[in-house]
Parts: sequence; C-alpha cells; structure tokens
Amino acid sequence: MTRSTSKSGRFAGTVPVPADKSIAHRAALFASLADGISTLHNFPSSADPQSTLSCLRHLGVPIETSSDQTVIIEGVGRSGYTKPKSPLDCGNSGTTMRLLSGMMIAQPFDCQLIGDASLSARPMGRIAEPLMNMGGNISLTNGHAPIQILRSDQIRSIDYTLPVASAQVKSCVLLAGLCAQGRTVVRESTPSRDHTERMLALPISRHDREILIHSDASLPIPYGAFTLPGDFSAAAFILVASSLVGTGPVNLHGVGLNPSRTGLLHVLNEMGANIKIQESPSPATEPYGNLTVHRAPLKGVTIQGSHIPNVIDEIPIIAVAGALAQGTTIVRDAKELRYKECDRIHVMVQNLRKLGADIEEFDDGFVIRGGAPLKGCPVSSYDDHRIAMAMAVAGLAADGTTTIQNPDAASVSFPEFWDTLEALQQ
Ligand code: S3P
Repeated sequence: MTRSTSKSGRFAGTVPVPADKSIAHRAALFASLADGISTLHNFPSSADPQSTLSCLRHLGVPIETSSDQTVIIEGVGRSGYTKPKSPLDCGNSGTTMRLLSGMMIAQPFDCQLIGDASLSARPMGRIAEPLMNMGGNISLTNGHAPIQILRSDQIRSIDYTLPVASAQVKSCVLLAGLCAQGRTVVRESTPSRDHTERMLALPISRHDREILIHSDASLPIPYGAFTLPGDFSAAAFILVASSLVGTGPVNLHGVGLNPSRTGLLHVLNEMGANIKIQESPSPATEPYGNLTVHRAPLKGVTIQGSHIPNVIDEIPIIAVAGALAQGTTIVRDAKELRYKECDRIHVMVQNLRKLGADIEEFDDGFVIRGGAPLKGCPVSSYDDHRIAMAMAVAGLAADGTTTIQNPDAASVSFPEFWDTLEALQQ
C-alpha cells in the first residue's frame, strides 16, 4: 500500500494528537506493579503501547480496555507476575523490550523477549551489560533480541553511569533496581527524557543527575484516575507541517510539554517559527498545554551536543524543516539515530536527496543547505513510523506528488496521522 501527499490549497484547523507513547508504556508497566487498580484515561491505540499491554497480559496482569480509550489495570504487586506461556512479543517497541527486561530479571521464572525484524536489529547489549552486573541471568542473540532471561535469586543494586544518553536504558536499570537489595543509583551526564523519574517520584540529585531507587521505595501508584497527555513527538509532525504550509492557525490541544521532550519548540523558535504555547495552569506530574501554529519562513539551525537527546525522535522532521528552510541546518552528535527503528540518519539523507535536497551525511548527523526546490517522488518509509510521517510532511511542501511506501508504519505511534493530514486540508 502507498499514500501520497502534495501541496494543497488549505492547511488549517484544530486536530487531536494521540496520547504520549513514552508515558503510556510507563503508566501501564508501573500500574501492573501496584497493589491496586489504576484507571488510565486517553490510553493510545497505537501499536507500541498496545505491545506493552499485550506483554503484561501474558504475565497474568488483568487488564480491561473500553471503547473510550480507558484502560483499567489490576496491579499484581512487585512479585505477582506469572510465567508467560509464550515469548513476550514486544513488536516494534524498543521501550517495551528494554523496560520490561529490567522488570523481568528478578522474576521467579524464565522468559524470553522477542520483537519484529526492526526491533531484533537494535542493540540490546546496552541493557544486558548493567543487568548482568546486577546479577541478572540474561543472554542475547548476537547482541540483539531474542533475549533470554533465566530466573535469578540474587539481584544486586548497582551504581551505574550511563554510557549513552538513553531514557530506555536508564529506566531499565531503575526498574531492575526496584527488585535489587539496597539502593541503585543511575548517573546521567546528558539528561534524557525523565518520565520514569517523574512518574515514580524518584529522588534526583539535580547537581549531577544521580537518580536513586530503592527496593523499599513506596511508589506513587496505583494512579486512581490518570489522564495521559498528547504526544509531543506526534505533534511535532503537525508543528513542522503547519510552519511550512499552514494557511491559517493550526491548533493542537492537550499536548505533553515535559521540558525533557520539547526541545523542538526551541529549535523551531530559533528557525523563526510562529508557535504560541499556552501551558495548562494545573501542576501535573506531566505538564501539558495547547499549541497554536501559524506559517512562518524558516531559517537554518545548528543542533548538537547535549541538546540532541531532547530532540532525538524529532530529528527526521527537523531534517525536513531544514531542507525547506533558507540557509544551512547542521545536526551533529546524533549517532544514536542510527540505532532507532531504522538508521534514521542514512534513510533521511537518502529520501531527502531523492526529493532534490542538498544534504550530506556524517557519521553522527548531516548538513543540509536548505532552500533547494523539492520535487515529489516515490520514497520508502523503511517501515519506520517517523520516516513515514516526516516524508509525508516533505511531500506537502514539494512540487508534484510524493508517494510513501508502507505508510501504515505511522500506526506505531500515530494511527490517525493520515486522517489528521486530510482533516487539516479540508
Ligand atoms: C524512549 C526513549 C528514546 C526514544 C524512544 C522512546 C522512551 O529512546 O527515542 O522513542 O520512552 O524511553 P532512547 O532513550 O534509547 O534514546
């Protein structure tokens, strides 16, 4: 199947964005560990969070879902999982696989975690190494999934300095620390998204970002009723599209505004975008608010160093913005992008070059000399949700028609993406 995008007469309106997938994984996993019932409102129907629910069901966690996207999770406590009858299938979801591995190392049973072809090509040594240091009995398949975890009675706490800025690795070690004797410390020199720390209310030494977790920690779960905010990383595609081709205001309501995720707002601001932010006044664990975007001429920007983790999922769409901006856009220190659902540096360079962009690939990023006219053509999504959506946005600003192969990849995080584009064009 393919989907096409091209310049349209209109691009304006108010559209919803799906709930945040990073928060959804954590809400479901943490609720399953609780002694009590959690009601999660606005739980996303996208494939990745559904993989987490499916794994939890296989671990014996009672979960009910209703048509209005409410999920009710009956927590089984920290030692209440039951041995799954089949491998835990994490689908395309790295967050499911890495966080769940941390939770599985101290279970009184063996289990196996598997994923689709893309997930099975992503590096898992980064979680196996600290988990083994904690006494976990974990083995990989040539550094990748399938992951085999054998029961281990002796999980030790750890003092771990993250070698890469990764919220998935950080959360994996913290969750393993919940089952370890004593106090686990995770140190990160470059901050990554902090949903786990916020949602578990973990003590953090702000000075050098040491995050602490203790097996005795009483966790602020169950949630009673918890409403998930919209996914900033999904909104990102609409923010850039509206900045490039908007014909009137585009409004997005209830979007998550956790500062460890909203680096794109600073990037777009520097590029000259016109985005108004109205943050909700009620202090919530996860802040959220409304965004209004008007079209504006964009100029090039440089992003590197410690700014990268905050925009890591937004770099494909930043590449599109850079190709259509005047001037040079440079992204460096972003080698992590090569280990996502596909090699996002290489694939974005290939796809944008096909459309006519002047773009050069580096080992850790790219440089785009923006402003070359883009001409639509067939491109692949490489079965990666963010590539599918980024190229769809490029197609909205290119001459002619851009045809995206396997556009359904978008449903991993934004199943309503294609309908949303259509709604804004009507
Ligand atoms: C995620 C963390 C990021 C991000 C991914 C979701 C999370 O990965 O790219 O989409 O929910 O923790 P890394 O932490 O490995 O960079």
